[in-house]
Amino acid sequence: MSFTFTPERRAKLDALVTRYPKKQAALLPALRLAEEQAGCIDFDAMEHIAEILDVSPAKVLGVFTFYTHYRRPGTGKFLVQVCATLPCALRGAESVFDRLASELGIGQDETTKDGMFTLKKVECLASCGSAVCVQVNDDYYENITADKVPDLIRQLKEKK
Ligand code: FES
Repeated sequence: MSFTFTPERRAKLDALVTRYPKKQAALLPALRLAEEQAGCIDFDAMEHIAEILDVSPAKVLGVFTFYTHYRRPGTGKFLVQVCATLPCALRGAESVFDRLASELGIGQDETTKDGMFTLKKVECLASCGSAVCVQVNDDYYENITADKVPDLIRQLKEKK
């Protein structure tokens, strides 16, 4: 096992665990702490978390794969998530996704060769009133249309 929390993050996790009636309930923040530390969550990190929280690695993997927002190994610098749930779908999410795919030259769950962009369709991002919503890393881009996609990509490339 090559992943272990830094002493600071381990102390944070230990403090978080005390907030819950069962330490297993701290699984989501534990995954977030691992992601913050390593930039993504790999199997070693999941095993480490399983050991700390006294749950099976399969349970950690199940929770990790249920949520789309955690970064997998190989995820690009910009994780571009397009909401595809009904309100966004009705306002053109499919055409936004297709334009992103076309401009970036990648499809669902793919990463550009330069490692800059990973593209995903995801479920509701909880910003339905500003559909179409696109989340890039921790930032929301709202009221996105297919025509706004080239400008969005340009803005992101300027952040390099
Ligand atoms: S449906 Fe897209 S943010 Fe809720």
